[in-house]
Amino acid sequence: MDHFIYKDGILHAEDVPLLRIAEDVGTPFYCYSTATLTRHFKLFQEALDGLDHLVCFAIKSLSNQAILRTLADLGAGMDVVSGGEYRRALAAGCPPDRIVFSGVGKTRAEMCFALEHGLRQFNVESVEELRVLSAVASAMGKTAPITLRVNPDVDARTHEKIATGRKEDKFGVPIARAREFYAEAASLPGIDVVGVDVHIGSQLTDLAPFEAAFQKVADLTRDLRADGHAIRRVDLGGGLGIPYTRSNETPPLPLEYGAMIQRIFGDLEVEVEIEPGRLIAGNAGILLASVIYLKQGEGRDFLILDAAMNDLIRPAMYGAHHDIIPVIEPQAGVEQHPVDIVGPVCESGDTFAKQRQMPPLAAGDLVAFRSAGAYGAVMSSEYNTRPMIPEVLVKGDQYAVIRPRPDFDEIINRDRLPIWLE
Ligand code: LLP
Repeated sequence: MDHFIYKDGILHAEDVPLLRIAEDVGTPFYCYSTATLTRHFKLFQEALDGLDHLVCFAIKSLSNQAILRTLADLGAGMDVVSGGEYRRALAAGCPPDRIVFSGVGKTRAEMCFALEHGLRQFNVESVEELRVLSAVASAMGKTAPITLRVNPDVDARTHEKIATGRKEDKFGVPIARAREFYAEAASLPGIDVVGVDVHIGSQLTDLAPFEAAFQKVADLTRDLRADGHAIRRVDLGGGLGIPYTRSNETPPLPLEYGAMIQRIFGDLEVEVEIEPGRLIAGNAGILLASVIYLKQGEGRDFLILDAAMNDLIRPAMYGAHHDIIPVIEPQAGVEQHPVDIVGPVCESGDTFAKQRQMPPLAAGDLVAFRSAGAYGAVMSSEYNTRPMIPEVLVKGDQYAVIRPRPDFDEIINRDRLPIWLE
């Protein structure tokens, strides 16, 4: 459920007509709903109610300061994967003891910065990283709280590019060797072993792979305790999928996911962390675009929009589906026609949908891409010197631009001429 609905024939974000924002901001832009974000965050809180838990928003999915502040104020922790994201979490007011630092390639500088300012834990992904972290922390006279991310060799049955828990993936340490690595971790200076971490992939639409992985984590927790480690936390990663098409997708609900976690970890006396991104942000955001032309091609029509692959790369990168709907509600029973929905970028890959059934649309009409809140704005670029797409946040009948569109001078003046060209 989200808060983008037609009222009096016009698509609204909560109580704000999207036509009004479009007039004010210009298209294309992203628009987020505070009520939807809040609702999704609270669903996870409720699903884990009764367990000692922390919901850490995976800020890679949507990292605007206004979004992070909204979630931090609700009590969210944050999962970060770079020094930049760590700084974003701090800047948004997330207390350091609610920040977990994930990622396969943390640098010494990133470790140093996070140790200096504080964090909940590093999710360490290799023994090589562990040794470097030990050296960095010891040199600073600090102790780094860590989990080891284990790779459970479970197939998440999701898109190839976002599956992370098989042994051929670059993530985590092989679970079969975990006890050996934990023994080394415990022996290293500057390292405090606090837990176990796992994340098997994104956009999972079935609970079975989660369950298989979590069961392995629970078994490992018992083994590690038997080996003498004080395991007090498990971080179960993110990955719960969302429906991208309204009609026929029914991924598991947070409540069902939570019930499964409660079943597996309920009597293990551990603090449970989860790192959802997409489920919180995905359906809390839409991308608004205008039709530039309806081009009649040879045997097919093209709806050319002012949004492109640089603004929303998911269709080009993963063949992802996004529902695209007109901002003015079509009359009931209006005839639909197949069109290719494309952007202006000079690549055939700049295609959002092929032969999509759409009601009649003309130049100047507005359309909304649904489910674009997660991995939308954060993956945008200025390819073709198209300015970074602005972001707008709605709350009830209010809205605010939370990232303005840069002007062209700003973009061009970022470049510098070397002395020999001046
Ligand atoms: N934790 C870790 C360690 C992760 O790597 C990720 C996502 C998450 C949590 C959050 O997963 P979520 O709950 O959002 O599924 N750009 C791709 C998705 C990449 C996901 C990367 N890792 C897409 O647009 O589908």
